[in-house]
Amino acid sequence: MKNLQNRFPKEFLFGVATASLQIEGGDTNNSWFDWCEKGMVPNGDHCILANDHWNRIDEDISCMKDLNITSYRLSLEWSRIEPKKGKYDVEAINHYKLELEKLIQAGIEPMITLHHFSNPSWLEQQKAWTSKEVVTLFELYTSFVVKHLGHLCSHWVTINEPNVYLVMGYMEGDFPPGEKGNIRAFFKGAKNMIQAHKAGFKAIHRIRKEQGYDNTKVGAALHLRVFDTLKEGLLSTITKRLHYFLFQDLFFNGMLYGYWLIGLKSKRYFDFIGINYYTRDILKAGFVNFPLFAERLVKQGSEVNDLNWEIYPEGLLRIMKRYFHKCKLPIYITENGIADAKDEKRKTYLRDHLAVILDGIKDGIDIRGYYHWTLMDNFEWAEGYEARFGLFKHDLQTQERSLRSSGQYYANICKNKSLDV
Ligand code: BGC
Repeated sequence: MKNLQNRFPKEFLFGVATASLQIEGGDTNNSWFDWCEKGMVPNGDHCILANDHWNRIDEDISCMKDLNITSYRLSLEWSRIEPKKGKYDVEAINHYKLELEKLIQAGIEPMITLHHFSNPSWLEQQKAWTSKEVVTLFELYTSFVVKHLGHLCSHWVTINEPNVYLVMGYMEGDFPPGEKGNIRAFFKGAKNMIQAHKAGFKAIHRIRKEQGYDNTKVGAALHLRVFDTLKEGLLSTITKRLHYFLFQDLFFNGMLYGYWLIGLKSKRYFDFIGINYYTRDILKAGFVNFPLFAERLVKQGSEVNDLNWEIYPEGLLRIMKRYFHKCKLPIYITENGIADAKDEKRKTYLRDHLAVILDGIKDGIDIRGYYHWTLMDNFEWAEGYEARFGLFKHDLQTQERSLRSSGQYYANICKNKSLDV
């Protein structure tokens, strides 16, 4: 007897998510190409080849079909579309157009991300997201894209994980431009990303409306994690609040209400919340890591992935509750996945995270879809090719993609819309 409790709603979307820079290969005009050229990624790993997805769209759509997914979150490479400031490349946009048409033909609904960590080199050279002009530049780029691709996609993500982009690039130095402890740049970038999101939200809605569509949905993909503390006490409470505020709520509130730090809550600039959930941090309060005042630890004795991130499915439920109750908007889990080269833990990881999504739905949270990170092992930013998040195993030398056992498990779940597989 099948357990009906383990069934997802009929309209629930199952998908995978990727990012252009991590899979496409071949583009020499972006901040990550420049970063790899300087040898900044461990083992000399380089994004120039990646999964050669730019030339293997048919093969990769066929992998998606093997997974029985009905939606695909992909990002567009700004540097290809606008290779020089103000000069757009029709061939590049036509390439994406063809990719979207092929996806739709295969029965896979696209969700497009406009910015996922990588910048055109010309933008990086003019201080990227810390220069004020970026808001207008992003709006122009967005408008160009939506004019050309608006008829092929209703769901849009403006920016992926502004918090991770800024922390890694300006506070910890592991992403380009590799600055450390530059709090001023972090705040400038945060303000600009929030404003760019608001401008993008308006542009996407306006242009698609002019195109005759009334089903436009725009959000951002936010990296949201759980913060718990090692001990109780005033310092612990303060650092926990600081972490929630500076790392996530600053962005969540800012993008949702279109304001910087404080303002009116009269208008909203999210149609949905995109949640990228991976793990939790245990905070050990102390006078370190200004301005957050804590060390970030992994819970002792916990199950971890290959990158030593705690596997904590309950955290996804806590995050969905916390953010749903702030605004009651639909939620898409825009990323969730595990670095697990041996594929020993991914099935359980999938089952446990999907189970808490079912719990959330039963609790009344409006969760519309789940995008597993990721389709195939790819260029994992500062980790290079070491961290393997794919449902398909990928061989960099031969470019062969092979379905992992956990990939087959996910395919069965997608097909049956149930955890009983
Ligand atoms: C990013 C992805 C990345 C994944 C795993 C997220 O922070 O959006 O691009 O590959 O985490 O690290």
